[in-house]
Amino acid sequence: MIQFPEGFVWGAATAAYQIEGGARDGGRGPSIWDTFSRTPGKVFAGHTGDVACDHYHRYADDVALMAELGLRAYRFSVSWPRIRPDGTGPANPAGLDFYDRLVDELRGRGIEPIVTLYHWDLPQALEDRGGWTSRETAEQFASYAGAVHARLGDRVDIWTTLNEPWCAAFLGYASGIHAPGRQDPAAAFAAAHHLMLGHGLAAQALRAAGARTIGLTLNPDSVFPADPDSQADVAAARVVDGVKNRLFFDPVLRGKYPADVLEHVSRFTDTAFLRDGDEQVIGEPIDLLGVNYYAPTYVRAQAGAPGDPAYPGTEDIAFVPPTGPVTAMGWQIEPAGLTALLERIGRDYPGVPIIITENGAAFDDRPAPDGRVADPERISYLDGHLRAAHAAIARGVDLRGYLVWSFLDNFEWAEGYRKRFGIVYTDYDTQRRTIKDSGRWFREVIRRNGLAE
Ligand code: FCB
Repeated sequence: MIQFPEGFVWGAATAAYQIEGGARDGGRGPSIWDTFSRTPGKVFAGHTGDVACDHYHRYADDVALMAELGLRAYRFSVSWPRIRPDGTGPANPAGLDFYDRLVDELRGRGIEPIVTLYHWDLPQALEDRGGWTSRETAEQFASYAGAVHARLGDRVDIWTTLNEPWCAAFLGYASGIHAPGRQDPAAAFAAAHHLMLGHGLAAQALRAAGARTIGLTLNPDSVFPADPDSQADVAAARVVDGVKNRLFFDPVLRGKYPADVLEHVSRFTDTAFLRDGDEQVIGEPIDLLGVNYYAPTYVRAQAGAPGDPAYPGTEDIAFVPPTGPVTAMGWQIEPAGLTALLERIGRDYPGVPIIITENGAAFDDRPAPDGRVADPERISYLDGHLRAAHAAIARGVDLRGYLVWSFLDNFEWAEGYRKRFGIVYTDYDTQRRTIKDSGRWFREVIRRNGLAE
């Protein structure tokens, strides 16, 4: 047996816009994803989150299904525009009521709620005032965090402020493939800073209100030089590591942006958004670091390569296309990248417990005529990554838990509903849920707290 430590947290994750639907219910205001998904050409086949998995209405059945899967924890996000439909002002009680009921339902079934306060659905009203490029958004975020804590804090112990600020900043404001769809590197760096500032301010507000476990979720890359013996490739990997990883890790866990990254950023902006004292706020100690991992990144120095607009300043760097097996997203399957990443975090940023807040894979699942959804590739992906996580624990990494992305198939951002990550199959015509083979497999993993050798 490959045995995980006692008390290891097993669960699954989702996000509000991806599953809830009920886009106009309970006084919810519009978010940047409502706007973006309605903009022609932005999301596959014009899909939107208007209905999604209709979880807003079906949450009680969904929680029952989680219990059937044996989940011990469930990571969900709170929709900011449900709580503050206009971005600011008093909290909307109907919005809070929904999460209140959800948390009660989870607790009633013995499932630990893990709350994410921001999983990309910024109120459109705040985007209209500059979105994350504006300092006000960071301040508003902390205030909203306080409002959610005031209602749920008596039953929720684990709080994460942001999900994947790199995506929010760089896919949202640099490459523009995510909402709000802006393509301006300077704006993306300002957004990254204000996201981190929002994290720090919210962490302080949560701490002052008595929250026990506070953290945030990053999606660091495991960045490798294509040729480890090439100095130029190693230097290229360091640049990508700077804008993807150290730009976030260092201020949060060391209280300071790295000098080489600031220099890189100054190619695009005068960084006037960075004010005295900000790094101290961002460096507010956290209790738990969430890590999302899907695939490794390989880069090579290559004169004339266009770079990737999601990583501003990577001209002359080639992102090497995957070799070997990939998922339906085209993402390389390489569990060893997870071990390397966890070990690196443990080594460079010691002292903070880690939880894998997302890991999983999309495949083209199809129900058989008898309704069964066989997904051996997903089982193999999850199995490989759990072994990789276990290897990191064996080498001393303080890993406390593992949450599968995702509990059920849902709205996969720019890919719409065509990419399925769930361990539960969603039939979008009928909203019927079917536990996939991987869901049954995961239930066994949880039951045994481990894997067969
Ligand atoms: C992550 C997101 C999550 C999901 C997975 C596949 O970047 O946090 O919402 O879309 O990717």
